[in-house]
Amino acid sequence: MQIIDGKKIAEEIKGEIREAVDKMCARNLKPPHLAAVLVGHDGGSETYVAQKVKSCEQVGFRSSLIRYEEDVTEAALLRCIARLNIDTDIDGFIVQLPLPGHINERAIIEAIAPAKDVDGFHPENAGRMAIGLPCHVSATPAGIMELFRRCRIDTQGKHCVVLGRSNIVGKPISILMSQKSQPGDATVTLCHSRTRNLADITRQADIIIAAMGQPDFLTADMVKDGVVVIDVGTTRIPSTDTRSGWKLKGDVKFDEVAPKCSYITPVPGGVGPMTIVSLLRNTLQAAEQRNRP
Ligand code: GUN
Repeated sequence: MQIIDGKKIAEEIKGEIREAVDKMCARNLKPPHLAAVLVGHDGGSETYVAQKVKSCEQVGFRSSLIRYEEDVTEAALLRCIARLNIDTDIDGFIVQLPLPGHINERAIIEAIAPAKDVDGFHPENAGRMAIGLPCHVSATPAGIMELFRRCRIDTQGKHCVVLGRSNIVGKPISILMSQKSQPGDATVTLCHSRTRNLADITRQADIIIAAMGQPDFLTADMVKDGVVVIDVGTTRIPSTDTRSGWKLKGDVKFDEVAPKCSYITPVPGGVGPMTIVSLLRNTLQAAEQRNRP
């Protein structure tokens, strides 16, 4: 059994991004610039955005954080997006989700210029990804594909079971895993809350990607020996062991599932760090596009 060290792989990739940035600077080009829009003070969103800003610094990107209070109007947020869309100094930007209930998330995502949508959430990017055209692939699915690539995990012809059908992870990763590519070329089953006999399906899986946000959902009796398990769950649960008073819990009961696996990602330190480097890569790609003659 091998525990996939997502943190270490992410650090390697950050080194590669840093080299690309140094080359841009040596050509007298401005380094990539990522902006993040954060609404309100949700603890999880604050942490994620702080990690994104810190990672920008580590690779030599410029970053800007634009904050709004919880009661910001949808119109004000749309005006902010319109400004970022035409700001030639910003290569890419994200609007951290979830947004407060009075704001239509779809309208916000659809207002982002697809070329600057480094989260890959705009329907144009999601559609292009689905048919294999160049685009910004959303960060978590892109990070999982990179883990398969870097760990040289063979996915061709394997039965990949995806748990969860979210637009951010479940749906896009099931499309990427079924694409004619390496990694990819898998036979994919997408399971969700209405799936019948779920454990019968997961027991047939060569690869399981768990992304439903239900802590400790996948147990040892639900997997076969030698399975590859990718845990995308990041639920915050109260904890007396940490200074912050909470810790992250994955969708997989790690201690009992790990001994049956050929590979498994831990939480934290598995998929999470890969998500951030994928965002950095998309931003680098957007900046390179800007510099094309
Ligand atoms: N909220 C949870 N994950 C994400 C993400 O990848 N991007 C944004 N913008 N918000 C999120």
